[in-house]
Amino acid sequence: DKGNHRHFMQKEIYEQPVVVAQTLRSYLRPLESRVALPDMDFDLSSVERVVIVACGTASYVGMIGKYWVEQLARVPVEVDVASEFRYRDPVLLPNTLGIVISQSGETADTLAALRHMRSAGVVTAGIINVPTSSMAREVDLLLPTHAGPEIGVASTKAFTCQLAVMAALATNLARAKGRLEGEADVVRQLQQVPEAMSQALSHDAEIEAMAPKIAVARDVLYLGRGPEYPLALEGALKLKEISYIHAEGYASGEMKHGPIALIDDQVPLIVIAPSGPLFDKTVSNMQEAQARGAQVVLISDAEGIAQAGENAIATIEMPTVHSLIAPLVYAVPVQLLAYHVAVAKGTDVDQPRNLAKSVTVE
Ligand code: F6R
Repeated sequence: DKGNHRHFMQKEIYEQPVVVAQTLRSYLRPLESRVALPDMDFDLSSVERVVIVACGTASYVGMIGKYWVEQLARVPVEVDVASEFRYRDPVLLPNTLGIVISQSGETADTLAALRHMRSAGVVTAGIINVPTSSMAREVDLLLPTHAGPEIGVASTKAFTCQLAVMAALATNLARAKGRLEGEADVVRQLQQVPEAMSQALSHDAEIEAMAPKIAVARDVLYLGRGPEYPLALEGALKLKEISYIHAEGYASGEMKHGPIALIDDQVPLIVIAPSGPLFDKTVSNMQEAQARGAQVVLISDAEGIAQAGENAIATIEMPTVHSLIAPLVYAVPVQLLAYHVAVAKGTDVDQPRNLAKSVTVE
């Protein structure tokens, strides 16, 4: 049932504050100022490296997880798409934690990667939305997301719930490695996510109003840096799959190594850039593109927009949030933009051509 929403995708975007809160509830112990995982029969402190395997949108959660785990726990992380991982005879050293991420728990390549890791003796954890799925049954440690059924083919609420669990996992690994400082602060940041997502959703009408400008584009570029780089990839994937507009995500600093050649005044550039230590660098990448005519949509907070929003064709103001939770909050405008562009183009948002919700063939 879509309720009063026009599409399942729209309903699922709007459900995020509730389902992310629901997911976080099973990982946060606010009274003890702790982030907890379900009981496990292996010792997280023995983990010396992490390998994350997933497909599509779920693989971008893995890429964001790499930033978090390496920063918080100082444990090296490798991220791979499952279709590559399983056939390249990956080197799996002792004391590796293997993580699979999947909404359906049935994606054929991810399931095969999970089985490969297990047969190599790797301990596995799975961030999975369907608790009865094959992957949920086969992982050593199930880390459920509580997104509820996701009907729209384009993943939205599963993505942000996966990020919430990934943040909990990174925090626990950091504690186990004796690296975690200020756990109470992490708990507080994570508790603010649902409210910050609601604030992000309040910009829906503005995003809808700018969608027709993007809908006429042939190509769209997304830029982000750090944990917002995988979000740029996610923005591009979402736009491609539901609006059929060609889009690419790039790490901001990569622009001048090639993609800037694509820029002219017909190419919208969506810049995902919360203010912070690397903001100035991203802004200079953005200005290089603007000097070549790029039509910039800047997604930032009040400080970032005040500093760099002047020449943008549009700005979308996010609440000011801690860098840890920014990817969850900034996911919302990225999803809404793809949604409204697709609606403006009149495509079948919930059932895009050529795509299936669960990819059970290799
Ligand atoms: C994109 C999308 C896909 C899935 C991918 C993995 O919007 O939905 O890229 O993320 O097919 O699916 P799961 O998470 O079920 O393994």
